[in-house]
Amino acid sequence: MKVTVFGVGYVGLVQAAVLADFGHDVVCVDVDSDKINDLKNGIIPIYEPGLTSIVERNYGEGRLGFTTDAVEGVRHAEIQFIAVGTPPDEDGAADLKYVLAVASTIATHMTSKKIIVDKSTVPVGTADKVLSQVSEVLATRGEAIEHYVVSNPEFLKEGAAVNDCMRPDRIIIGTASEYVKAQMRELYAPCNRNHDRMIFMDVRSAELTKYAANCMLATKISFMNEISRLAEYLGADIENVRRGIGSDERIGYHFIYAGCGYGGSCFPKDVQALVHTANSINYDAQLLKSVEAVNYRQKEVLFDRISRYFAGDLSGKTIALWGLSFKPKTDDMREATSRVLMESLWEQGAKVRAYDPEAMEETQRIYGCREDLELVGTKESALQGADALVICTEWKAFWAPDFDQIKGALRQPVIFDGRNLYDPQQVERHGLAYYGIGRGRSV
Ligand code: UGA
Repeated sequence: MKVTVFGVGYVGLVQAAVLADFGHDVVCVDVDSDKINDLKNGIIPIYEPGLTSIVERNYGEGRLGFTTDAVEGVRHAEIQFIAVGTPPDEDGAADLKYVLAVASTIATHMTSKKIIVDKSTVPVGTADKVLSQVSEVLATRGEAIEHYVVSNPEFLKEGAAVNDCMRPDRIIIGTASEYVKAQMRELYAPCNRNHDRMIFMDVRSAELTKYAANCMLATKISFMNEISRLAEYLGADIENVRRGIGSDERIGYHFIYAGCGYGGSCFPKDVQALVHTANSINYDAQLLKSVEAVNYRQKEVLFDRISRYFAGDLSGKTIALWGLSFKPKTDDMREATSRVLMESLWEQGAKVRAYDPEAMEETQRIYGCREDLELVGTKESALQGADALVICTEWKAFWAPDFDQIKGALRQPVIFDGRNLYDPQQVERHGLAYYGIGRGRSV
């Protein structure tokens, strides 16, 4: 089948590459000519395991094309994906200007039937807005061309995006049209060979499903983070509690890891956007507001702890920091807890010496060169002469460090672990003080 994808961001690029890999003929359109040129030259704008090879292969074999020419994109296919960004505006609502601009472009240039697929995470009611936009433009053109708008939210995780997209748990399709259902079934046929993953529903339910999924996951995390605070004051260990409750199938082991707060481009934005949607219909979304508030507070835990440990005097201290990205296997720093921590440390006159396997370039891009930030090439070199070690991201490279070496290198033998990577007793046997999240003790 022929497919056009508008937007070569995370979602659009991965989706396009995977659809091409399934054998479809895919054209990607983006307004950013630098990005499009880079992609044509095999330069992938994001770090995502497996993405480079699948883009290169499909581009090389002619199933995946890149262009800035929207007219070419519209003409290419009946199926038109919208996968452009929906950044939060000032009050937390998802900004739809890019989505609606693509809808207008499609409507302006279409000369034959189109199925417009909303892939971006968009508030409930967006498909209706896209539909009216398209209908309006067609009306001003004096044309009546058959068109449909369908919601098909994406559920991929950064760091596992290619695999998630190739082997999705479910494919949500929001449409009332039997024709569209059949087309979507054909498009996604390779995902359904062993097991039917298609779930059809009305368009508004599909849109809400996306927010509900992310908000449920964010809720699980904030819940565990809240219990972890209680554990600290009550002398319990959240890791034991996690194993204890996860064994109940109704709760499950996934997404119940306490830590230094959730980040990324999705959870913070989507929780805020759903709160905003609730406000707009005069519903007080108390639980969602609390999920956000707990996370906000949790991102400050590491700094509070370090500050208390040094009796509020951080001036001139050097803090070794392991892990900058919001989670492992990505260079994405959006809403990363490391940023909240570094900014607080700098404000108090401390220096940060940081190492991350992938996100150092991105950190440099965000913060530029500054005297109180040193980015170093290995996790060991971050330690030398530092006053403490703090861990923000659970990269595998940090799972089994040489604790004696850490103790020897640090000026103060102390680890603040925002991801509960170690057994506290084991660390303490090496003569290091250890503060995890919810591990029965606090500073
Ligand atoms: C999230 C969802 O997991 C995807 O299903 C969804 O498609 C995506 O958002 C999206 O809307 O596009 P992602 O943002 O890539 O994916 O990251 P996650 O793996 O969900 O992690 C989010 C944050 O939660 C990270 O900061 C992670 O460290 C934190 N987390 C996760 C915890 O603190 N505890 C956990 O138990 C799990």
